[in-house]
Amino acid sequence: MYNSKITGLGYYVPENIVTNDDLSELMDTNDAWIQERTGIKERRWIDKNSDESSATMGAKASKIAIERAGLTKDDIDFIVFATLSPDYFFPGCGVQIQDMLDMPTIGAIDIRNQCSGFIYAISTADQFIKTGMYKNILVIGAEYHSNGLDKTTRGRGVSVIFGDGAGACVLSRTDDNSKGILSSHLHSEGKYADKLIVKSPSIKNWVPDIINTNGEDTSYYPYMDGTFVFKNAIVRFSEVIKEGLEKNNLNTEDIDMLIPHQANLRISQFVQKKFGLSNDQVFNNIMKFGNTTAASIIIALTDAWEQNKIKENDLVVLAAFGSGFTWGSVIIRW
Ligand code: UT7
Repeated sequence: MYNSKITGLGYYVPENIVTNDDLSELMDTNDAWIQERTGIKERRWIDKNSDESSATMGAKASKIAIERAGLTKDDIDFIVFATLSPDYFFPGCGVQIQDMLDMPTIGAIDIRNQCSGFIYAISTADQFIKTGMYKNILVIGAEYHSNGLDKTTRGRGVSVIFGDGAGACVLSRTDDNSKGILSSHLHSEGKYADKLIVKSPSIKNWVPDIINTNGEDTSYYPYMDGTFVFKNAIVRFSEVIKEGLEKNNLNTEDIDMLIPHQANLRISQFVQKKFGLSNDQVFNNIMKFGNTTAASIIIALTDAWEQNKIKENDLVVLAAFGSGFTWGSVIIRW
């Protein structure tokens, strides 16, 4: 059995910065509320007149990751793309990356696990490498939220949180079993699917049915029972980080860098306090990018790495919780 390690990282966010004050011009909200409840100061939203999308942002992040891995697009054996905001209902964004990067006709899959999308994606890639099937896999998380949000006061509980962006990494085979992904841990609890959901359009409620309600059907906007999600998040984050550490006979003191999914700064701070971690042991950048769901962990990981906050041999822990519910962790020896 082989091991896999991250050999290249990259992220891309749209240029357009949207501050909390900008949002207060669209809806009844304010900078103080958003910062106090979420930690977010600003986020990036794609300019509607541009042709950017989850796939194009993913392609830009991918090019950086592949170059930093010292590889070319022709060295990549497989693509795993995580998003809840694909360009098309089908096909998924993975095949668009194959085309946009002019890659050989390699396989591509899409992962539909929302905030846990990147954890599921990198874990999936890890299995293909462990079995020896592939050597270099491109793993992408990308989201284009802004065009699908209810940007009125009605949607303020959700729309102020989400941002657009993409991150990517190259996961490569290594013979050194002491390095790379040590383990990954995945969970779901589908009975809470309706607590954080975009219900439509679905095959059951297709576009003409929605139009026929003359704007009364708003099920194509994200719905979130924020308090319920928050309460579950802090429990599941803690559980799944502990599960990962125990599997590897490690303790919370062994963590050099925890990269939590950037759902809400208060969730990260709760987990940090619970595990007694210092500010140097937890990385957050939700302040500048908001919650980018499947992209958030890989954007944060890349951001931390670019700031030299991750060093050789560090124990890096990735953890996420979100819609599904789904949650998971990945334990990495860098
Ligand atoms: O990434 C996937 C997983 N997602 C999460 O983990 C998110 C988890 N949940 C949260 O982050 C928080 O629940 C929110 C940030 C979404 C909301 O914070 P909260 O502290 O749970 O606020 P709330 O929903 O209980 O609302 C408190 C008050 C309400 O007013 P009343 O009823 O007390 O008068 C809301 O109407 O704040 C009001 N409110 C706002 N006020 C200004 C809700 N949204 C806003 C807003 N600006 N944007």
